[in-house]
Amino acid sequence: MIKIQNLTKIYHSDHGDFLALDHVNLDIKKGDIYGVIGLSGAGKSTLVRCINLLEKPTAGNILIDGEDITLMNGPELRKTRQSLGMIFQDFNLLMQKNVFQNIKFPLEIAGFDSKAADARVQELLKLVGLEDKANSYPAKLSGGQKQRVAIARALANQPKVLLCDEATSALDPVTTLSILELLKSINIRLGVTIIIITHEMKVVEAICNRVAVIESAKIVKDGLTADLINHFEGE
Ligand SMILES: Nc1ncnc2c1ncn2[C@@H]1O[C@H](COP(=O)(O)OP(=O)(O)O)[C@@H](O)[C@H]1O
Ligand SMILES: [Mg+2]
Repeated sequence: MIKIQNLTKIYHSDHGDFLALDHVNLDIKKGDIYGVIGLSGAGKSTLVRCINLLEKPTAGNILIDGEDITLMNGPELRKTRQSLGMIFQDFNLLMQKNVFQNIKFPLEIAGFDSKAADARVQELLKLVGLEDKANSYPAKLSGGQKQRVAIARALANQPKVLLCDEATSALDPVTTLSILELLKSINIRLGVTIIIITHEMKVVEAICNRVAVIESAKIVKDGLTADLINHFEGE
């Protein structure tokens, strides 16, 4: 469903050029929970920002269901962005809006009728287990609850793909597991393909069926999670 071919990103700055992604190739199938693991600075966030078109690749192609999104612009690009949900390490919630309003926000932007949007928000609150927090403000929520709001918001427009950039890195181990379980159930129940960016092998082990290892801008290994774990244990 997502084919990344020779994706290359060079950042240009006053200090010179920096190669952040070097001919990256990935093949992510529909229904995968696909892990990308690597140390800080390896190029993981650059990769997700290229996939959701927040960053323009220097070279290479990103095919989603056969269509090259690097060639898109205007309305086509906006529509493709809506089919990609995204969550982050620091949640990126709107602090002046309550939980309900945070989740409703992308529906308003997409032009939903207000009543239909309200009904959709109720469904999403139920999905992430926060029906009782609809009127709370983000400042009053735990990290795990904030990430649940972010997940509900990311799913509002029924994306085909959910991109998670270090989504559990700010959470304690128990909360991490509960968020990973929620992501797994979303993958199974809604059929959403999930890309998990992380620096933690335990996150990959917990939910990813496939994984790629990124090191200094390059994919150095990829395959089934079980095979990769055996590989690391053999080292
Ligand atoms: N906008 C930018 N301009 C210049 N260099 C950048 C920019 N964004 C990231 N980098 C550099 O690219 C490398 C990869 O960054 P990033 O993709 O954020 O890695 P990761 O998410 O794996 O920690 C880092 O060395 C970082 O300093
Ligand atoms: Mg990062």
